[in-house]
Amino acid sequence: MRTIPLGGSGYKCSVLGLGCMGMSEFYGPRDDVVSMQTLERAFELGITFYDTSDMYGRGHNEELLGRFIRNKRDKVIISTKFGFKRDPNGADGSTHDRDLDNSPAYISQACDASLKRLGTDYIDIFSAHRYDTTRPIEEVAETVAGLVKAGKVRTIGFSEITGEQLRRASKVHSIAALQNEYSLWHRRPEEDVLPVCRELNVTLVAYSPLGRGFLTGAVQDAKQLAANDVRLTVERFKGDNLDKNLQLVNEVKAIASARDITPGQIALAWLFAQGDNIIPIPGTKRIKYLEENVGAVAVTLTQEELKLIGDIINPAKIAGTAETASQAAGRLAAMTGGSSAGADKLKRI
Ligand SMILES: NC(=O)c1ccc[n+]([C@@H]2O[C@H](COP(=O)([O-])OP(=O)(O)OC[C@H]3O[C@@H](n4cnc5c(N)ncnc54)[C@H](OP(=O)(O)O)[C@@H]3O)[C@@H](O)[C@H]2O)c1
Repeated sequence: MRTIPLGGSGYKCSVLGLGCMGMSEFYGPRDDVVSMQTLERAFELGITFYDTSDMYGRGHNEELLGRFIRNKRDKVIISTKFGFKRDPNGADGSTHDRDLDNSPAYISQACDASLKRLGTDYIDIFSAHRYDTTRPIEEVAETVAGLVKAGKVRTIGFSEITGEQLRRASKVHSIAALQNEYSLWHRRPEEDVLPVCRELNVTLVAYSPLGRGFLTGAVQDAKQLAANDVRLTVERFKGDNLDKNLQLVNEVKAIASARDITPGQIALAWLFAQGDNIIPIPGTKRIKYLEENVGAVAVTLTQEELKLIGDIINPAKIAGTAETASQAAGRLAAMTGGSSAGADKLKRI
């Protein structure tokens, strides 16, 4: 496993991370025994970057990671996030069950709660899961900088902010990592944040790097997905859109077969080729998928292959939008003052 620096923080981690979200929620049923075996296998294979959030499974995901890191705390980088307040008694997979809170009091409280669930006294990367645009981003950065000073947090991160917001936050405190959706079928970071990350020495953590599993070719039919699978709320996975998009993945499958690799490995190798400051964090609960994804670290695509694959899976050709229903609600909420209740109101309008 290759390692890379984590922004300008002085810490290092594996160039491939493990997204742990699906071990608790959003992509079908959870199985803690299998998840723990997958986590241990990831560690054996050299993965040292583990991504979670307080909201995944309403704390379940952090507790799972807490058990995993108990005997290896100083050998792993734990990336967790704050900002979404959820009803502790809500049903997993429900989409309108979260409110955004970036207030200093809530951030401190969320940090203490994450530390407790993780069973540790420091968080390696503490990120705003979503930035509440009704507050100055400087205030959010300053609050997390206070937690760094207190020794509870090692480095600061953000998720889904713009290049300009990253610049402003970086003036308050160095930012180690920016976590945005980035993959063959979701290229928005290239327009804005990727150049700023390079300039400011911030690692771009690419989430949903396999297009929520679609780019592996494993999702052939929406009927495969559990009733509460979040992908059922994404336009790209619906009806005719899915059928059209599958034709593109099938073209990539043919290229992969010719090289004796998989379409998922192509999706990850394509991301590695976009810069040396990018950490894709494919999510899986299964050892089989994990091992395949780790195999992508050794795959190098030629310039011709990169161009060909980038032309086949090109966002301009993809049918449907990439947002989940809750992401869409969050975006609308940002326009209506911060709460998903506001978003529901706007949607009804
Ligand atoms: N900051 C944010 O707002 C945000 C948003 C979303 C995600 N994230 C983070 O990013 C991580 C990764 O994103 P993601 O999980 O949404 O999407 P992803 O990594 O693109 O895809 C995950 C899905 O792909 C499947 N998969 C993984 N490897 C596979 C393989 N080799 N072959 C076939 N299928 C495979 C998984 O199946 P199984 O589940 O069955 O193993 C899962 O359903 C998450 O775990 C989370 O930590 C962050």
